[in-house]
Amino acid sequence: MTETTIFLADEPASVQSAESALLSGSEPLASSRLDAPAPRKVFLKTYGCQMNVYDSERMQDALARDGYEPVDSEAEADLVLLNTCHIREKAAEKVYSALGRLRDLKKKKAAEGKVMTIGVAGCVAQAEGGEILRRAPAVDLVIGPQTYHRLPEALARVKQGERVLQTDYALEDKFDHLPAPRPAVTRARGVTAFLTVQEGCDKFCTFCVVPYTRGSEVSRPLARIVSEAERLAAAGVRELTLLGQNVNAWHGLDESGVELGLGDLLRRLAEVPGIARLRYTTSHPRDMDDSLISAHRDLPALMPYLHLPIQSGSDRILKAMNRRHKAADYVALVARIRSVRADLALSGDFIVGFPGETEEDFQATLDLVTAVGYAQAFSFKYSTRPGTPGADLPDQVDEAVKAERLERLQALLLQQQQAFAQGCIGRTIDLLLEKPGRMPGQLIGRSPWLQSVNVDAKGAEIGDIVRVRITGAGPNSLFADMLD
Ligand code: 5AD
Ligand code: SF4
Repeated sequence: MTETTIFLADEPASVQSAESALLSGSEPLASSRLDAPAPRKVFLKTYGCQMNVYDSERMQDALARDGYEPVDSEAEADLVLLNTCHIREKAAEKVYSALGRLRDLKKKKAAEGKVMTIGVAGCVAQAEGGEILRRAPAVDLVIGPQTYHRLPEALARVKQGERVLQTDYALEDKFDHLPAPRPAVTRARGVTAFLTVQEGCDKFCTFCVVPYTRGSEVSRPLARIVSEAERLAAAGVRELTLLGQNVNAWHGLDESGVELGLGDLLRRLAEVPGIARLRYTTSHPRDMDDSLISAHRDLPALMPYLHLPIQSGSDRILKAMNRRHKAADYVALVARIRSVRADLALSGDFIVGFPGETEEDFQATLDLVTAVGYAQAFSFKYSTRPGTPGADLPDQVDEAVKAERLERLQALLLQQQQAFAQGCIGRTIDLLLEKPGRMPGQLIGRSPWLQSVNVDAKGAEIGDIVRVRITGAGPNSLFADMLD
């Protein structure tokens, strides 16, 4: 089965918000106007998470069909698209400072008689909408994540002189209308690929913007996911990472109408010829069901690596975060997963300095990290996000206290990461070769635990899975010798 790739030229026009109608009817403020030559070179910059990486590729695919070629620098581009992240304050600020630079470049190009279109996509586009058009007059287009399939249509409106704001939720499924790339394009992107299976979140953790920027949980249908996996595999992809803001909330129906969960989906995808490795991210502890846990026991293709954020080790803070589980539930869950897959490497996310966090609460986080043991982790200072319940809580923690706690937590996590890497030395593993290394003849692959591994390739090629013995560990990667 092949994926539906038909783009409906006459699909329903987007339902504009009142604000959208207001702005698109306003006087053009910037220079990409009527009679401009069609822009054909696009520079797409991606911020934030893996889902944005996936979305950027799908936008490139939609633009490719309209004749846009990707370029590596803003200076060469007729169209610059920023695919943005809103998760923390700093991420959103980066966008406005990038827009400042782009405004200057646009002016410079205009002086040379050239037109540059500037678009903002992603979660900042969704969250800030018309505010971006007000704050950054050089921006021509603001497009939210749910309507990327309408990007060519939106750009056509920009060409007609409109400043377009498109942040509504499309009635149709964008994935049904986004074109698939040519096999050579897929192959050039590498032997590992992301595949979005679920989008949005209904959990409403009190610190998080995702339920507002990505909307409520939506699962893509089984048949569409399987056909996308088959297309990727046919182009040479060997490893799939299933993506979702809350990926283990994925659910769907099989051909006979039986309800399936992520464990079942993984079982199906493990059967796709050519797919040798599967991963998934990001999971919520409350949605790790028995079927998913047993998939870690039953499926050799499912890599023994799990990103399972807890955010804090303090029950008081977990409650205030609306995580709806206790630290002990998480520890017990990890033990259950490890009991079926002993070599599972765990990764997590942590927030320090959530409102009301005391030294005692923070100590509980350190204790949890010590008890669980992480191979890898991401940790952040709490960042107040307007519109989230956390923003209105009393007892916001001082920035200096957050910084000091983050430093202590990161020192512990780094120590665990290094200990995990050292513990790999001497082990024999399968390595998926992904890209050329720095030295001639060297290739870089990924271990089952997602570490980069350098190996002297001895005739093996990118896409091969080879048996290697780990011989050393550097700060960011491992070294290995081929065994066959
Ligand atoms: N402040 C700090 N970190 C945050 N995250 C999400 N929202 C915030 C916030 N307001 C972190 C969480 C989440 C990861 C993707 O980003 O740890 O798991
Ligand atoms: Fe945000 Fe919580 Fe949903 Fe994760 S589970 S996306 S942290 S609201």
